[in-house]
Amino acid sequence: MANIVIERIRKSFGAFQALKEISLTINDGEFVSLLGPSGCGKTTLLRIIAGLETASSGDIRIGDRSVVGLAPRERGLAMVFQNYAVFPHMTVYENVAFGLRMQKADQARVKSQVEKAAGLLHIEQYLDRYPSKLSGGQRQRVAVARALAVEPQVLLMDEPLSNLDALLRLEMRAELKTVLQSAGTTTIYVTHDQTEAMGLSDRIAVMHGGCVEQVGSPVDVYNHPATRFVGGFIGNPPMNFIKLPVSDGHVAAGGEHLAVPPETGDEIVLGLRGEAVELATLPQGLEMKVRVAEPMGSHLLLTGSIHDQPARVILPAFETVKSGDVIGLKLDRKRIIWLSPASGKAFPAAAA
Ligand SMILES: Nc1ncnc2c1ncn2[C@@H]1O[C@H](COP(=O)(O)OP(=O)(O)OP(=O)(O)O)[C@@H](O)[C@H]1O
Ligand SMILES: [Mg+2]
Repeated sequence: MANIVIERIRKSFGAFQALKEISLTINDGEFVSLLGPSGCGKTTLLRIIAGLETASSGDIRIGDRSVVGLAPRERGLAMVFQNYAVFPHMTVYENVAFGLRMQKADQARVKSQVEKAAGLLHIEQYLDRYPSKLSGGQRQRVAVARALAVEPQVLLMDEPLSNLDALLRLEMRAELKTVLQSAGTTTIYVTHDQTEAMGLSDRIAVMHGGCVEQVGSPVDVYNHPATRFVGGFIGNPPMNFIKLPVSDGHVAAGGEHLAVPPETGDEIVLGLRGEAVELATLPQGLEMKVRVAEPMGSHLLLTGSIHDQPARVILPAFETVKSGDVIGLKLDRKRIIWLSPASGKAFPAAAA
């Protein structure tokens, strides 16, 4: 078993609290992403799990054994760093072989594993080169190949695809997913790219300011964000948040009256995914002033305002809305979430 249990981890750098109290369990064979904006503590948490940084308090268990105090190499994991440190004095072949040599693998296994990993990352043609003669993206792939070559039980990766162009990134993402899934590798994957996290993960832990705000499957965090931050960070366009007055336990959305959760104040925030709408006639629909209409090919992206608050919605490509139009929107009630204006937290579901 190579599950990872993170229990009440805190980390301070002087007076600054980088991690506030993080608890998270990653199951054996699971792929979990740490997703969040720059500076939220992703790398710090990964380095603590790897043993490169010491937590101020809390426990880390890998495979049911506490690893606190163990050196990185005693923790039985492989890691790809954010700055993809490759050894400059070794050829690409030797870089990829490094972990296997440490394990004293025999020559035949070294060769076959290096070739396999190099093939996967498309770096076969550079095996004899030194890293200084490679591009940033190629070096980064060497670092990923080196980690995969040892077929680790636990793999920690910090933005491993950040230096690749969009197309290669997409391809590598699919390759990684296939390989790690079939090997049953327990993986923690750090990224600030929400599409990457959505595509790869069994579960996503959304981090913000040193805390984990929500943990859930990609579909879950997308459809049921626990906080305004999560809804705004995940999805492109981000979730819309429209503050509306409450009267008699209802808000008016155009001609429709929507029931809100009990015990809300006199205002509530409506959370709405951009695609959870249909074009409707006014005044039945909720009014949106369209500032810009962008035909994206697969869909039509509208930017403007609802109740004088910024909004972005997506309509089918065949709709003929133009910049400057005022349109009505019918909301998909099942997909509405309600949030507290004060705390930014979502009310429990099933109130829509
Ligand atoms: N050694 C250190 N000393 C002081 N502060 C640090 C140190 N390492 C990290 N920090 C601070 O802790 C916070 C979290 O840093 P961390 O590197 O974990 O962020 P991150 O989520 O990985 O961001 P990015 O997406 O930019 O890589 C940041 O505010 C950073 O400035
Ligand atoms: Mg980082």
